[in-house]
Amino acid sequence: MALTPGHRSPAGERYRTFDPGAAILRCFQCHSTGPLRLAAGFRIEPSEPGVQCEACHGPGAEHASSLKSIRNPKRLSANEINDLCGACHRKPAAAGDDTDWTNPWNTRHQPLYLAESACFRKSKGKLSCLTCHAAHTPLDRSAAGYDRTCSGCHARPRHRTAVTGRACAACHMPVVEPQANLRFANHWIGVYTGGKPLRPIARP
Ligand code: HEC
Ligand code: HEC
Ligand code: HEC
Ligand code: HEC
Ligand code: HEC
Ligand code: HEC
Repeated sequence: MALTPGHRSPAGERYRTFDPGAAILRCFQCHSTGPLRLAAGFRIEPSEPGVQCEACHGPGAEHASSLKSIRNPKRLSANEINDLCGACHRKPAAAGDDTDWTNPWNTRHQPLYLAESACFRKSKGKLSCLTCHAAHTPLDRSAAGYDRTCSGCHARPRHRTAVTGRACAACHMPVVEPQANLRFANHWIGVYTGGKPLRPIARP
């Protein structure tokens, strides 16, 4: 439908195993699980392709052989979950980082944006990725479940704007399209106006 982001032609890009920038090794850090092996012809072979159990639960061999306990992310705090998911989806900004909030590509970094929201900052650790997303099932693309989650904390939001018939996220987590056919929900939950979906208006 369109060029893969970062590619310059439909022929694709050639990544060299021992490139000084190590670009291809970094791909595997987020797109495979476990250590990498070097196979014939300097091909990189991952232990397991994709995001598998141990990417989130940590090493599991001892758990499988002797039922020793394993990491259960349910016990992590909201900030720790941002860091866990942020290892691949990008972490919140550290003090002193200057994120370019006008760059639509940055909205793909959900932990970074969520951490800016009043919902996250002012809910005393009650809001994390897991409040809205189940870790083991595909992304829910229907609005009803998210609406229920919002209403769990905002039973009666004060609106002057007409809101009936529209999803909460449609206005408060607007879609950003950095290139054709590629869409991200802006995880900086807030009040957006004037067709500007990158950054919410400042509120007292
Ligand atoms: C810091 C972690 C990270 C690195 C490094 C990374 N990716 Fe990704 N990639 C992701 C995440 C997270 C997504 C899912 C995007 C989303 O929906 O938010 C993704 C999505 C993709 C997709 C689309 C997958 C799909 O199912 O739609 C492709 C293809 C891809 N990456 C290829 C690459 C390649 C090639 C590299 C190396 C040049 C790379 N990635 C480096 C984290 C990473
Ligand atoms: C993307 C991260 C991620 C991956 C990958 C993942 N999990 Fe989980 N898992 C979680 C989180 C977060 C929780 C805690 C929240 C919950 O219970 O849904 C959890 C909880 C669990 C629990 C405990 C449920 C409970 O009721 O306490 C089990 C068992 C589990 N995962 C098994 C697996 C297995 C097996 C795999 C691989 C097939 C896997 N997980 C892959 C993130 C992940
Ligand atoms: C090891 C890296 C890694 C970790 C850790 C990780 N993710 Fe992901 N996640 C990815 C990649 C890569 C994709 C897209 C391609 C794929 O499914 O392999 C993805 C896809 C997703 C999607 C589906 C996006 C879509 O467009 O369908 C959601 C939602 C998601 N992750 C949420 C989470 C949450 C919540 C956590 C923390 C509990 C988490 N991820 C932890 C790498 C990771
Ligand atoms: C865990 C509870 C929680 C959840 C879930 C939650 N919020 Fe919030 N939200 C808060 C808190 C706390 C505030 C700050 C209220 C204040 O300043 O008094 C807030 C503030 C807001 C604001 C005002 C933003 C601003 O910049 O002042 C909006 C709009 C909002 N939430 C919408 C939503 C929407 C839409 C959802 C669902 C996608 C949602 N919230 C989910 C707790 C939550
Ligand atoms: C208040 C609810 C809420 C929270 C909290 C939340 N998300 Fe989402 N997320 C959504 C909604 C709504 C969508 C858009 C779903 C759709 O496309 O229909 C979404 C979509 C996504 C996607 C798909 C790509 C995109 O950006 O549209 C990924 C990946 C994702 N979320 C990861 C995360 C991670 C990681 C966290 C924790 C930092 C997180 N989300 C926290 C509501 C939430
Ligand atoms: C049509 C767009 C739209 C929809 C749909 C919408 N909102 Fe709003 N929301 C706004 C606007 C704009 C404001 C700023 C106040 C105003 O002008 O009404 C606002 C304000 C808020 C506030 C801050 C109010 C305060 O007291 O500070 C919260 C919380 C909120 N909305 C939550 C929600 C929830 C939860 C839903 C879904 C049930 C929702 N909104 C649906 C546009 C919308």
